[in-house]
Amino acid sequence: MGRVLIWLLAVAPLVVHALPLDTGWDMRKQEVTGKFWHITDLHLDFSYHITGDHTKVCLSSKGENASNPGVFGDFLCDSPYQLILSAIQYINKSEEKANFMIWTGDSPPHLPVKELSTKMVIDIIGNMTTTIRTLLPDLLVFPALGNHDYWPQDQFPVEASEVYTAVAEFWKPWLNEEALSTLRKGGYYSQIYKSSPSAQPLRILSLNTNLYYSPNKVTINMTDPAGQLEWLENTLHASRQNKEKVYVIAHVPVGFLPFAVFTTAMRGDFNERLVKIFRNYSDVIAGQFYGHTHRDSIMVLHDGNEKPVGSIFVAPAVTPIKSLTESDGNNPGFRIYHYDDSSYNLLDLWHYYLNLTDANLKGEAIWKLEYIMTEIYKIKDLQPESMEDLVKRFGKPDSVDFHNYYRNYVVHYEDVKDCVGRCKVIQVCSVQHVDKDSYLKCVLEKKLIF
Ligand SMILES: *[C@@H]1O[C@H](CO)[C@@H](O)[C@H](O)[C@H]1NC(C)=O
Ligand SMILES: *[C@@H]1O[C@H](CO)[C@@H](O)[C@H](O)[C@H]1NC(C)=O
Ligand SMILES: *[C@@H]1O[C@H](CO)[C@@H](O)[C@H](O)[C@H]1NC(C)=O
Ligand SMILES: *[C@@H]1O[C@H](CO)[C@@H](O)[C@H](O)[C@H]1NC(C)=O
Ligand SMILES: *[C@@H]1O[C@H](CO)[C@@H](O)[C@H](O)[C@H]1NC(C)=O
Ligand SMILES: *[C@@H]1O[C@H](CO)[C@@H](O)[C@H](O)[C@H]1NC(C)=O
Ligand SMILES: [Zn+2]
Ligand SMILES: [Zn+2]
Repeated sequence: MGRVLIWLLAVAPLVVHALPLDTGWDMRKQEVTGKFWHITDLHLDFSYHITGDHTKVCLSSKGENASNPGVFGDFLCDSPYQLILSAIQYINKSEEKANFMIWTGDSPPHLPVKELSTKMVIDIIGNMTTTIRTLLPDLLVFPALGNHDYWPQDQFPVEASEVYTAVAEFWKPWLNEEALSTLRKGGYYSQIYKSSPSAQPLRILSLNTNLYYSPNKVTINMTDPAGQLEWLENTLHASRQNKEKVYVIAHVPVGFLPFAVFTTAMRGDFNERLVKIFRNYSDVIAGQFYGHTHRDSIMVLHDGNEKPVGSIFVAPAVTPIKSLTESDGNNPGFRIYHYDDSSYNLLDLWHYYLNLTDANLKGEAIWKLEYIMTEIYKIKDLQPESMEDLVKRFGKPDSVDFHNYYRNYVVHYEDVKDCVGRCKVIQVCSVQHVDKDSYLKCVLEKKLIF
């Protein structure tokens, strides 16, 4: 009952706006909400099966006993195919009319390098692509490569490779020839998504940030691996000239990891350079979307004068895997964003999750709405100013908003501990600051000793 009410409250105003009233309603100013799905970090473990010996349930538990294995997975294992299928089937059955989907990488399981191969990695990406295409035949999908979508993992090359060639073949139904040509050379691309002939064009810009990921040894000492930074600036410059809006999608996010002190996901110097470019083109970039950390988090990009100029979203994983030593895990999740169809301003996000314990108990995967961002945090929309208002509230002692944020961060994982003290300082600083100077200042001001 509660859900129906929430749905009504959220949808009713849009329905009213969309009605073609004849009382002087200006049709050109009519607000139309566009929508797109975001899924990430599927991490298929093809070895997953239920068996009495819990060390043998999945290769991705690396010899540990699975914790409480069921048909839809285990918190110490990567995704069984059934779990991934249930997520895509939910989207298939959903009544949502999405314009497109973004898919930000990491299809293969977490396995030692020796247990995978280029062929296996390519087969798994192919399997995921076919699964999505079969269940969502009419949906346009914009993929990005993740650090596990290569063999050996993380070692993305700066020129043509078997993996780049293979994914360009898999993703032909979704991407145009220009996009495929840069994908084949460096694992990145951009492509216009046009919703209607009258609207301003939206460009999806899919970066291969794995080239900047710290464990990538191929790109050590390179100033511009695969020429991607130069291409990025040129593309954004042209977008500005052509009055386009841009959504940046990639796997490894910019900014600081929310669970570690002073640690960027990518190499520090690349982070600084990307932040500069994103600041410079904040009038063009209407949103940034990442995966990789497997947790649900947000970041606000500020310009040099501490004005909020960008909204950044990190979506949690479909895989529930965690290591034995990690205290928090995540339930499987994915989301749908709402945007203004003419300005591409982000309006809202609805996040769905699977209570994994419950799904295994019932033998049925009941995906549920976890939260509606504007409602749970009482913000107007997902614009940088609204996000800024929210993340400022996080800093207050005993902030209810931060409490909710942290529950969502672990996707309602049950055994979550309270995030206070040092945990809260690094969470809040990583949400508010994506460049090293202001991040460091934040951590020091909050008197963290390290
Ligand atoms: C797995 O569980 C079994 C049975 O409880 C136990 O004997 C074994 O030592 C465990 N293995 C590991 C790696 O923890
Ligand atoms: C994908 O892999 C799963 C698990 O190994 C298998 O059951 C399924 O048939 C494969 N699907 C495709 C389209 O290759
Ligand atoms: C759902 O999947 C079926 C079977 O693949 C397909 O025929 C149908 O078009 C899909 N529905 C949507 C909304 O994509
Ligand atoms: C990178 O540069 C440093 C300093 O010039 C040098 O010591 C190191 O050997 C270089 N590493 C590689 C992999 O080229
Ligand atoms: C910022 O944008 C201007 C104008 O488009 C360009 O000339 C300049 O090189 C850009 N700087 C960076 C760091 O992106
Ligand atoms: C998930 O399901 C389990 C088992 O049914 C239940 O105990 C738990 O409260 C549920 N968690 C949430 C966040 O609903
Ligand atoms: Zn991942
Ligand atoms: Zn990753």
